[in-house]
Amino acid sequence: MTTIIDGKQVAKQVNQATQAEVSKLVERGVQPGIAVIIVGEDPASQIYVRNKNRKATKLGMHSIVRQLPATTTQAELLSIIADYNADDKIHGILVQSPLPKQINEPLVTLAIDPNKDVDGFHPTNVGKLITNYAGHYPIANTPRGIMTMLAAYDVDPAGKHAVVIGRSTIVGKPMAALLTNANATVTLAHSKTVDLKAVARTADILVVATGIAHLITGADIKPGATVIDVGMDRDANGKLVGDVDFESAQGVAGLITPVPGGVGPMTIATLMQTTVELAKWSDLGE
Ligand code: GUN
Repeated sequence: MTTIIDGKQVAKQVNQATQAEVSKLVERGVQPGIAVIIVGEDPASQIYVRNKNRKATKLGMHSIVRQLPATTTQAELLSIIADYNADDKIHGILVQSPLPKQINEPLVTLAIDPNKDVDGFHPTNVGKLITNYAGHYPIANTPRGIMTMLAAYDVDPAGKHAVVIGRSTIVGKPMAALLTNANATVTLAHSKTVDLKAVARTADILVVATGIAHLITGADIKPGATVIDVGMDRDANGKLVGDVDFESAQGVAGLITPVPGGVGPMTIATLMQTTVELAKWSDLGE
């Protein structure tokens, strides 16, 4: 029997808690605010950004979407970030990836005030994650949302072998750090890993974040493993599918996230949760 992890349901619980927290903060004179900056017209990014804006507004937050032309220069973008760094109404700043070629993404990440870095991508915050710093700091929302989902289904990483496939800054690397901090034994695998599928088969917890549709099938999964599919891919018919072949994983995995309805809703719910935390930490010193 394979349990399907209901990301929508867990996200709903997170959003309810966030909404309650926003109400409390507003009563104390603080309305959490998020600014999302999008450069160019990438269609997938447009949809993500619209969804983030809708959710933030629905939860009672102050939400700004700053749409910039694809021709925006590095200097223009840095100047807009500086404005939001100085804006007391904005607690979280997110610059949507991917960015046009003329923009130096690492420098953009560095320009965001680490206290407003709602993505958790600034090296200061990445450093805190790696060192398992005891205080408050933002953590990349997709991996953090996955940890919330694991906890909601009583999957404790301690002592387990976790295999993360994909070494991106957005998902793979922070995921490996979070699982390490939660006492898993972690293998961070990637496109150059020798016999990737054999490595996958050793995982008690398998997180797949490659962007390759159906890379992992039931034959690559250890029976009873927890499988987290971060993929948002299109198959030959244009249908949204994951990095894991959901059909063949059925009956092999112990727990599995579907696509859609798994990791996706958790990412946005966690982004909202992080925005509220940034507001609380900066304005109320909590
Ligand atoms: N593009 C795809 N995922 C993300 C994300 O988590 N943050 C940002 N800033 N851009 C993205």
